[in-house]
Amino acid sequence: MTTPLFKWAGGKTKMLGHYAPLVPPEVTTYYEPFLGAGAMFLWVMKNRRPRRVVLNDVNEDLMSVYREIASPRCADFVREMDRLSERYLRLTYGARKDYYLALREEHTSGRGSTATFYFLLKTCFNGVYQLSKDGRFNTAPGRINHTSSVYSRHDVFAWHKLLKDVELRCGDWSAAVRPEKDAFHFLDPPYRGGFADFGYGRDFGDDQQAKLVAFAREAAAAGGYVMLCNRDVGDGFFEPLKGDLDLLTYDVKYLAGRRKVVRKGVFEAKRAREVLLTNCRSWRAGGQDGFGAGIPYVAPAQRGKITAGETRRR
Ligand SMILES: C[S@@+](CC[C@H](N)C(=O)[O-])C[C@H]1O[C@@H](n2cnc3c(N)ncnc32)[C@H](O)[C@@H]1O
Repeated sequence: MTTPLFKWAGGKTKMLGHYAPLVPPEVTTYYEPFLGAGAMFLWVMKNRRPRRVVLNDVNEDLMSVYREIASPRCADFVREMDRLSERYLRLTYGARKDYYLALREEHTSGRGSTATFYFLLKTCFNGVYQLSKDGRFNTAPGRINHTSSVYSRHDVFAWHKLLKDVELRCGDWSAAVRPEKDAFHFLDPPYRGGFADFGYGRDFGDDQQAKLVAFAREAAAAGGYVMLCNRDVGDGFFEPLKGDLDLLTYDVKYLAGRRKVVRKGVFEAKRAREVLLTNCRSWRAGGQDGFGAGIPYVAPAQRGKITAGETRRR
């Protein structure tokens, strides 16, 4: 099974079990303007095979990895990853830390290759990208306990195939997506609230969040499908903005990103409430998981079933 190429703060892999039943049975055009590690993109490619796909993220480092892997240079990228990894794996644990820090310096001073950056993502602390206040990649070295491999060559080549014919963009979300009839718009911006400060290095304030909700409503009004994810910080922010969109909530636990430290090296999962604004109804027949396999189509009259752990407010 192909997985995301790296961990990404706010990644949605764990939410797919909730979201998948809501994905329209047919997706001809797919927009994902806040791509991150692309968990939903992977699911949609496997289960819906859209004809047109537009992916975007404002993060240039991130998009350069996808671009490189999508390009004919993918084999060179893999060779470079192999070279970096083999050297790393031969080193003692202490020396691995120095090697990582030297490559991080290479990257932040603009001398590193795209493979250098991907290598850093695979070997950094918790595997999670973070930036310093001045916008430099500054995640500390990871637990450096890789034994036989640092990355999956299989996943890289699988992504190379998946990205064929995909439109890859890098910039603000608003330039990469438009309201479109029948298109599926998956909108997963940076979370609201302090806990959300994952260090993407970009300000995404409430004015942007509100603009995105307005876009989601526009896309729904144009006859498109929308799913807009966020965090419920308990201030009812989305209620007055959501218009006719449904507001679903999911209670979840997070293990990545910023977590409460119980004692040195031990973290407590953070409890949070995810919100989803959507005009997609549950397409599945009751009780079916629908994850990975084909999800049975449910006639419109039967839609709107609420799945376990999900509450729906209209
Ligand atoms: C919650 S993450 C997306 C996670 C993704 N869905 C996944 O499964 O990994 C939000 C993403 O939005 C990107 N971002 C932040 N501001 C943006 C903007 N103005 N336009 C486009 N992307 C932006 C960040 O770089 C980050 O990758």
